[in-house]
Amino acid sequence: MSDTSIALNRIAPSQTTAMTDRAMTLREAGCDIISLSVGEPDFATPPHVVAAAKAALDAGDTKYTAVGGTARMKQAAALHFVRDLGIEVPTSQVTVSAGGKQAIFHALLATLDPGDEVLIPAPWWVSYPEIVRFAGATVVPLETTAGGGFRITADQLAAAITPRTRWLLLNSPGNPTGATYPAEELQALGEVLARHPRVLVMSDDIYAPLRYGEGAHATLAVERPDLAPRVLTISGVSKSHAMTGFRIGVAAGPHWLIAAMEKLQSHSSGNPSSISQAAAVAAFEGPQDFLIDWRERFRARRDLVVGAINAIPGLSAPVPDGAFYCMVDASPLMARFGDDEALALHLLDHGVAIVSASAFGGRDGFRISFAADEAKLKEALRRIAGAVA
Ligand SMILES: Cc1ncc(COP(=O)(O)O)c(C=O)c1O
Repeated sequence: MSDTSIALNRIAPSQTTAMTDRAMTLREAGCDIISLSVGEPDFATPPHVVAAAKAALDAGDTKYTAVGGTARMKQAAALHFVRDLGIEVPTSQVTVSAGGKQAIFHALLATLDPGDEVLIPAPWWVSYPEIVRFAGATVVPLETTAGGGFRITADQLAAAITPRTRWLLLNSPGNPTGATYPAEELQALGEVLARHPRVLVMSDDIYAPLRYGEGAHATLAVERPDLAPRVLTISGVSKSHAMTGFRIGVAAGPHWLIAAMEKLQSHSSGNPSSISQAAAVAAFEGPQDFLIDWRERFRARRDLVVGAINAIPGLSAPVPDGAFYCMVDASPLMARFGDDEALALHLLDHGVAIVSASAFGGRDGFRISFAADEAKLKEALRRIAGAVA
């Protein structure tokens, strides 16, 4: 007999948070730990966003709002979808929640039944499989490799779809690999999806403003407008505007799904914070030029990390196209360390917190978050080289 529910017992706590907490505890105990485990930009929230939050407080903007966000917030989100992702949606097809995480949680809980299958490219963002399991559905991993750019292929998708498939979860640029799908690959995936009308697609584009390649961001709802009636696009301000603590995420999708998510939200958190909504309006409607500088700084750090990792015997990493993560392959070291969990603990002993690949449904490696300043990254890489030498 367990005190907790069958549903809760199906899931595990977030391992990225666990590693971050562990690093924090060690640091509080006086240990010198550099944490490269956390998934948030180290930049300060832009001042105009902070000012908007303060102004909202001063104006008494401190009450309940509509469940899916204020009219102004929805307009700002719709502006973001069309300007930054190319997705033209009316505000009635947009909803706002306490982080992209909550939007994903509500969308999956509102649509999954036991027996349903959810296709998730692996390595994956830690919360996807846990939410699916919590909903009582089955996770179907679609394995990807560094050699294949950590992207699934149309053939792989076609072979994995069954009559029980309910969702495909796409994340581009992806956490933890930085993999980014080009337009032609999305079109090829769309070709397969067009043959399976029951399958919904989540396109988690939360890292779209943090891409390092040339050209515009590609997203399924734009590449395959015929599929748009069953695509839910997730975005937010956490990563692009360094607003993780504000807890604002946005979603665009078909009316029925947005209504279902808001129905659930009306009984969970209710509306997202009124103050955070005011800040997010400023984030989406205000100047975006700081992003040019942030992207350049992230790109420089990415190049620093990938260069240093590939110079360490036993470690290798492809160049990520987006987000601020680098997935390191450490398979040549597994004979020595046993598994990547053991390697992660070994690196922690040497003063660097990273997260093992297996936490993300991958294996024999680890994820480095390069959302840390250059001096910290250099020192962490020096420690990693020493720890595996
Ligand atoms: C791939 C991905 N999607 C969604 C989220 C959710 O972000 P938030 O809830 O802060 O908007 C994260 C956060 O780490 C993420 O990495």
